[in-house]
Amino acid sequence: MERRPIIAGNWKMNLTNSESIKFLDQIFQMSLSDNVEKIIYAPSLFLKDMIEKVTTSGIIVGAENCYYEDKGAYTGEISPLMLKDIDCLDCLIGHSERREIFKEDDRLINKKIKALIKHGIRPLLCVGESSSEKDAGLTKDKVKVQIESAFEGLSRDDLKDIIIAYEPIWAIGTGITPTSSEAEETIKYIRDVIRGIHGDLADSIRILYGGSVKPDNIESFMAEENIDGALVGGASLNPTSYSALVNY
Ligand code: G3P
Repeated sequence: MERRPIIAGNWKMNLTNSESIKFLDQIFQMSLSDNVEKIIYAPSLFLKDMIEKVTTSGIIVGAENCYYEDKGAYTGEISPLMLKDIDCLDCLIGHSERREIFKEDDRLINKKIKALIKHGIRPLLCVGESSSEKDAGLTKDKVKVQIESAFEGLSRDDLKDIIIAYEPIWAIGTGITPTSSEAEETIKYIRDVIRGIHGDLADSIRILYGGSVKPDNIESFMAEENIDGALVGGASLNPTSYSALVNY
């Protein structure tokens, strides 16, 4: 099945608001492949301005995180309702930094995914193993549990637009990556786990690789049958390298 590739940037807590606007001004001058879906997940503070600015550029702007309630006494959080209100229809969920630093567990991530889907916001769910889990041979066990709990209580139709990113924690920001065939093996396994839950939905869901993706290694990942794109941190902060990734 034909799956349109995605090159997604995750800016994390890096650029300032003025730098984010400068990034867009620069990238609008560059020629970017139409064959690739382009998403930038940006800090919530910048979303409204960025969404107003990207209009017909072909770049989609998404949030890096959100809570699952619509409103209430949740100091510091933003809700899917607030995202929807500013036409933000994409959101990262379960990034390993949220899981590790902010102690988000699989149950919370499942609630967040349900809330996003209820509001018509497309989740990009991140999964992946730590270095000690990798050394213990637990990569597949870990991603299986993460996918099964994230999908719990959701129908095939609910999940038709979800995007998954496999990001081994030990590859994030380290310059170390699995080989493209190792990433392919885990991503193919994730597709099989999805097939076990929702049959041939597995063939249409896009699964990305993330972790130290750069312009000089993107091609090898994109050449793999089951890898449908990349979720990129560091190399997405600069318009020149982001455009090189998009035009891989
Ligand atoms: O979500 C993307 C990320 O965690 C990978 O970061 O800097 O290794 O590309 P980086």
